[in-house]
Amino acid sequence: MPPSDKKEIENLRREIRRHDILYYVENQPEISDREYDRLMQRLKDLEAKHPDWVTPDSPTQRVGGKASERFESVVHKLPMLSLDNTYNLDEFRDFHNRVVKGLKNEIAEDKIEYVVELKIDGLGVTLSYENGLFTQGATRGDGRAGEDITANLRTIRSIPLTIPVEKEPFNFLEVRGEVYLDREAFVEFNKERKAGGQPEFANPRNAAAGSLRLLDPAITAQRPLDIFVYSVGHMDDMPFKTHHEAILKLKSLGFRVNPQTVLCKNFEETFSLIERWRDEKDHLSYEVDGLVVKVNAFSFQEKLGSTAKHPRWAVAYKYEAEQAVTEVEDILCQVGRTGSITPVAVLRPVFVSGSTVSRATLHNEDEIKRKDIRVGDTVVIEKAGEVIPKVVRVANQPGKSRGKPFKMPTKCPECQTAIYRPEGEAAWRCVNAACPAQLKERLFHFASRNAMDIDHLGPAVIDQLVDSGRVKHFSDLYNLTLEDLVPLERLAEKSANNLLAAIQKSKSAGLSRLIHGLGIRHVGQRAAAVLAQTFHSMDALQNASLEDLESVMEVGPIMAESLKAFFDREINQEEIRQLKKLGVALVEDRQETGDRLLGKQFVLTGALKHFTRDQAREMILAQGGRVTSSVSQKTDFVVAGEDPGSKLDKAKKLDVKILDEERFKALLAG
Ligand code: IVH
Repeated sequence: MPPSDKKEIENLRREIRRHDILYYVENQPEISDREYDRLMQRLKDLEAKHPDWVTPDSPTQRVGGKASERFESVVHKLPMLSLDNTYNLDEFRDFHNRVVKGLKNEIAEDKIEYVVELKIDGLGVTLSYENGLFTQGATRGDGRAGEDITANLRTIRSIPLTIPVEKEPFNFLEVRGEVYLDREAFVEFNKERKAGGQPEFANPRNAAAGSLRLLDPAITAQRPLDIFVYSVGHMDDMPFKTHHEAILKLKSLGFRVNPQTVLCKNFEETFSLIERWRDEKDHLSYEVDGLVVKVNAFSFQEKLGSTAKHPRWAVAYKYEAEQAVTEVEDILCQVGRTGSITPVAVLRPVFVSGSTVSRATLHNEDEIKRKDIRVGDTVVIEKAGEVIPKVVRVANQPGKSRGKPFKMPTKCPECQTAIYRPEGEAAWRCVNAACPAQLKERLFHFASRNAMDIDHLGPAVIDQLVDSGRVKHFSDLYNLTLEDLVPLERLAEKSANNLLAAIQKSKSAGLSRLIHGLGIRHVGQRAAAVLAQTFHSMDALQNASLEDLESVMEVGPIMAESLKAFFDREINQEEIRQLKKLGVALVEDRQETGDRLLGKQFVLTGALKHFTRDQAREMILAQGGRVTSSVSQKTDFVVAGEDPGSKLDKAKKLDVKILDEERFKALLAG
């Protein structure tokens, strides 16, 4: 290879790594996304020219791993212990007293330093570096051995693939940390799953764990995962004396460590931090399930040692989530749009964390069995942050007589078709494509604001249209007449006319909304928009090969398969023919597109007068901009409508440009 190419490749890799740290770890980018993309493209071009020179640590190789059949087991060099919990200040003081006792000949009680960290609610992982290269990453597993998830961890951009060892002569370094999802990223991610007909995750931790255990790293790469590294697991000749020193070192090596980590000079300081975080933790952009308090000096940690399960030099402090006690009045099974059947507890209404709760998801059959929840049971429920209320445990009075254990129905509660549970899945499914419950859910989704946006077509009307047999397919909506609607209950002639007008109007909703509305598995709103922009017509999309589909950014193999399977089915082809015949637009409306906002990152907050948030988002995308959910230093503009939320405060704090609706419109109009 020409020596100049070699040099350039090395320089590009170094530059990109530096920018990765600035962007993903420090939140302080120095260059625009566009400039970054240019560097990456140049590196890709050079590597394509010299394939022999592609190394696994190149920034181009994050999603290089192949999908695998299963994960290999990894025995940890040192066991990954878990932490003992304390739940109140007395218990926490007991922990301190044990530490004092253990160190009584070493140091005065008021001189013991502690490091206080947030206990991130995600999945514990370990990352090994050999001679500066990231060689293996694993889950905690049972603490002794976990699973090798290296390929998936490589896709998390804040995990360095290399660390600069030339400055620090160590051959082996193992660090430990927690992989998690931001609250807002979690909410958005769940919305997309719902729109794509996939079951939602109950909390960010499950979403993180599920994402890390996917067999195809290309899919993991699309999940908004991040990491905080919280300790050195093992390294040759540990050169540090304290945990705090080690953490600072990890930071300087390019690892993402939590900025809220604090070194406390004594127990009193630790105590006041615990008080402070009690309320403040709810304002963090990610979920924490408490604090971790660690004795700072490694020599003292060694002296204190560990039990079989927990270190004696560290403890978790857990704040109680708001809980309430109520009764399970019934357990229902709900049929979703794709036929998945979810058991739901109907509860005696109870007030918790600011609202009345009368239902809680029970997730799936295994979960109910594990907790042995039965109708009539007294249960403790819990609501944490934005998460759906859940049943924590059964709390019957001793001796209370109980109902029978819960049994999943054998038939779909709606259409009585036998249900089945696909291997490896937690959910039972109704396979009857004509199941009225599924049809109702599909129609509801089809008509929803982000899809065909058919006003006045709510659940009550849909129920009657389906139950009376008037609507069996989406296309039947476009054949409805006033005579069909007037007999429906609680639908006056005026409302019926409004509904007909709304149905009529939806014919020109456009391709992107239609693709989304069809409810193809794995295809959410964003993917639908990208597909519409790429293929422009339903015809072209239908005729696209798997390869064509996969070549679209944002479309991975699973989504491509799902699209192909959908369009291969005669029943769906017929439906699209019908929609066309009835005048539904199957081409993308000529949206004004351009690059006025190319590379600019927006956050929307508050209500806009002239358009919905989704319309605003579409207009930004059409001009090459991006919309994200949380404000950071990477945000270029925050568009603030009426009643903006905390995002506006954050924008002011970070000095991000704020646009009101008028200025936003002016910017769009150029
Ligand atoms: S220290 C022996 N620090 O909590 C020390 N753990 O029960 C154990 N976690 O599975 C880990 N944030 O994944 C530590 N700042 C933090 C943490 C943390 C979250 C998780 C960790 C572990 C569990 C401990």
